[in-house]
Amino acid sequence: PAKLRLRHLQQAKEQGRPFAMLTAYDQFSARVFEEAGIETLLIGDSVGTTVLGHSSTTSTTHADMLVFTAAVARSVTRPLIVADLAFGTYETGPRDAVLHGIELVRAGAEAVKLEGGAEVVPQIEALVAAGIPVIGHLGFTPQSVNAHSGHRVQGRDEQAAKEMLADALAIQEAGVSAMVLELVPARVAAEVTAALRVPTIGIGAGAGCDGQVLVWQDMAGLSGFRGKFVKAFADLRGELLGAATAYRTEVEERSYPGAEHSFD
Ligand code: KIV
Ligand code: NA
Repeated sequence: PAKLRLRHLQQAKEQGRPFAMLTAYDQFSARVFEEAGIETLLIGDSVGTTVLGHSSTTSTTHADMLVFTAAVARSVTRPLIVADLAFGTYETGPRDAVLHGIELVRAGAEAVKLEGGAEVVPQIEALVAAGIPVIGHLGFTPQSVNAHSGHRVQGRDEQAAKEMLADALAIQEAGVSAMVLELVPARVAAEVTAALRVPTIGIGAGAGCDGQVLVWQDMAGLSGFRGKFVKAFADLRGELLGAATAYRTEVEERSYPGAEHSFD
């Protein structure tokens, strides 16, 4: 099958065909997701909390993003590769956004994602002018977790919903190719989706978005995270716990390695 491009996400919206995005940070998982037909892989700054043990994505650095973006980009050929601009790499202005965006593209990103609404319009315009496609991110924006006073659904009251729609239109006008909507009431996300030309990608934003995204360790039941919006489609934690426990037991019992695992 052909290499996936941003225009395929646009076509999916126009055809009313929902599409699936997953985070990916490493070779083996990225290859599995490619084989499963996942169209877009996001090297999210969630790598900081899922892989690196931080408690917030504000700790994820640009250097982290370059390492994991390159790992995924080397490992697959078909999916669209999207990488997050880390906290601190674009808030200071369009020039910083472009310099960091260029490095993500050199690492293998085909689009970059940044968080925010009207306040990041200059950054989006500068990235697009530099030839770097941008995906936006509205609703709950994890890099602003402190300003949000924790993980909270955004856009619940009428005024906040209106502001979210205004932000969505502002970043669409600035040139984003798509946008993530995170922790948004389903009705509000559906309204925003209907008002936009470009696709929306929901996480905790209901079925009315054009696509969906999940953190892969949540999707596969490895993290054990059970937010209301998460569905664990497997019990990878249980599988891995069983395997590691069986391995330990067999080593302790001297039943592994057996003769068949040993050299003459
Ligand atoms: O970093 C991330 O994983 C994300 C998605 C959850 C959208 O930004
Ligand atoms: Na992110």
